[in-house]
Amino acid sequence: MKRALLQSLAALALSLQLAAALAAEAAPGKAAIASAHPLATEAGFEVLRAGGNAFDAAVAVSAALAVVEPTGSGLAGGGFYLLHRAADGKDYFIDAREIAPAAARSDMFLDQRGDPVPGLSVNSALAAGIPGEPAGMAVLASKYGRLPAAQSLAPAIRLARDGFALTPRLHDALRGKQRQFAADPQVARNFLRDGAVPPLGTVIRQPELARTLQLLASKGLDSFYKGDLAKRLVAGVRAQGGIWTEEDLAAYRAVEREPLVGSYRGARIVSAPPPSSGGVALIEALNMLSQFDLTHADSALRKHLIIEASRRMHRDRAIHLGDPDFVQVPVQRLTSMDYAAGLATSIRTDRALPSQALSGLGPGAPQGPQTTHFSVIDGDGNRVAATLTLNFGFGSGRMIAGTGLFLNNEMDDFSMKPGVPNGYGLVGEEANKIAPRKRMLSSMTPSFIELPDRVMVVGSPGGSFIIGMVLNATLDFIDGRSAAEIVAAPRIHHQYLPDVVRYEPGALTDAEQQSLTARGHVLNASPRRWGNLQAVIWDRSSGRLEAAADPRGDGVGKVE
Ligand code: DON
Repeated sequence: MKRALLQSLAALALSLQLAAALAAEAAPGKAAIASAHPLATEAGFEVLRAGGNAFDAAVAVSAALAVVEPTGSGLAGGGFYLLHRAADGKDYFIDAREIAPAAARSDMFLDQRGDPVPGLSVNSALAAGIPGEPAGMAVLASKYGRLPAAQSLAPAIRLARDGFALTPRLHDALRGKQRQFAADPQVARNFLRDGAVPPLGTVIRQPELARTLQLLASKGLDSFYKGDLAKRLVAGVRAQGGIWTEEDLAAYRAVEREPLVGSYRGARIVSAPPPSSGGVALIEALNMLSQFDLTHADSALRKHLIIEASRRMHRDRAIHLGDPDFVQVPVQRLTSMDYAAGLATSIRTDRALPSQALSGLGPGAPQGPQTTHFSVIDGDGNRVAATLTLNFGFGSGRMIAGTGLFLNNEMDDFSMKPGVPNGYGLVGEEANKIAPRKRMLSSMTPSFIELPDRVMVVGSPGGSFIIGMVLNATLDFIDGRSAAEIVAAPRIHHQYLPDVVRYEPGALTDAEQQSLTARGHVLNASPRRWGNLQAVIWDRSSGRLEAAADPRGDGVGKVE
């Protein structure tokens, strides 16, 4: 009897393995791309049609976004690429995060009394880390792609040289910066007309950026870091009071790291490792939530539990996360089920736990809608989840003379002083202190969520809001929602400090508000919606592909 049972179990295991192997071999046939701009999505498809794979498409989309969505990312910024290669079934992660220049010091944004100098870590040339995006694209193209990088850069070069029509989102962003940009001829000649933001549909040409991209196409993406361009970048940054050196650029390397892997209710979670806090926080929160029965919880209890898990994961982020090449990040512990189970014992279903009861770090502030994410899956089943950033909109809004490149202000993602919040209201401690050549902590969370029959490629901009958005997208995906529903879903957010629940218009019903308030949560209605989630879903069993761009942005998801 027992033997028979064992035999049938063995047979079952074998057929499951076979089914898994067959499923792993199946390819979608078509491709899907979701990005924050229709022309970037199109650039990706152009390269796929020319015989490129998802990794070539990722080079094309990244470069195109740097042209058509200059608020969100750029060649003088950085980012993370999470990859799945169908040929070996493995996941890879390219860390193209900026690093602090060698001359950076832990107190560089503080005055003589040790207080933060307002704006210095955001608005000055000192705010710029050494860029990583060109190095990340170089690894993508040379190690994973099929086409020469020059071919994948071609659509972006065309868009910069011949121009593109001004969209509502960029129009709004330019209006927000009009005064600063009108005073800077470098920026004004690309984006303004007679010092004013031109009407929607105006063709925006960026000849200097076209030349920079052309140079990278002819001399290779790595030529960003040496020779004439590097000299020009350093001179341009130093002329504005920055501290970059040619050695800093020459020393920059994109680093390939092991992606983080977790699981939740039968789903495999693949996400960004440190120096992103995203993967650790996402897995830690899901582990906490797995201690509860979310499926049968009413909607207010479900939201309460998500808020309580978010509070705890954001606290750990603040205390423990930083560049793993500089500090010991306890990744194993933070992502272990035992640890989450311990944390979850302090979660009551009937009451919020005030953040101050967890420990005392400083207060926080809201944030803006910049950075960019795109998701790709190609016909062979290769996948890319990429989140790229200059940090704030247009970075610091300063251009490097003659290059058409906006400077990032990523240095603000460091913790300039324990407990002092950064531009997203995030606090941090020693682990994320500024040090020469160190990577600043990030919240960017490019992720794959894999169920036995479905996979989602997902991510979003949104600063400190990113992790919560990807967490909610993950739960919605596991619940069977479509890509369009997932990106459109109204959002709520809690980041430990400030100890408030922010919610988008329509995200909480009156009954949910009452129920959460009765539990002790402080609710804070956000006048604006936030984020720009991009999701691609492949359903292996039906063969269906979906690509959806967040309706909050100008983006397009397309299947072809
Ligand atoms: O890496 C980070 O966490 C930030 N620099 C991301 C910034 C961002 O998403 C801006 N969007 N609001």
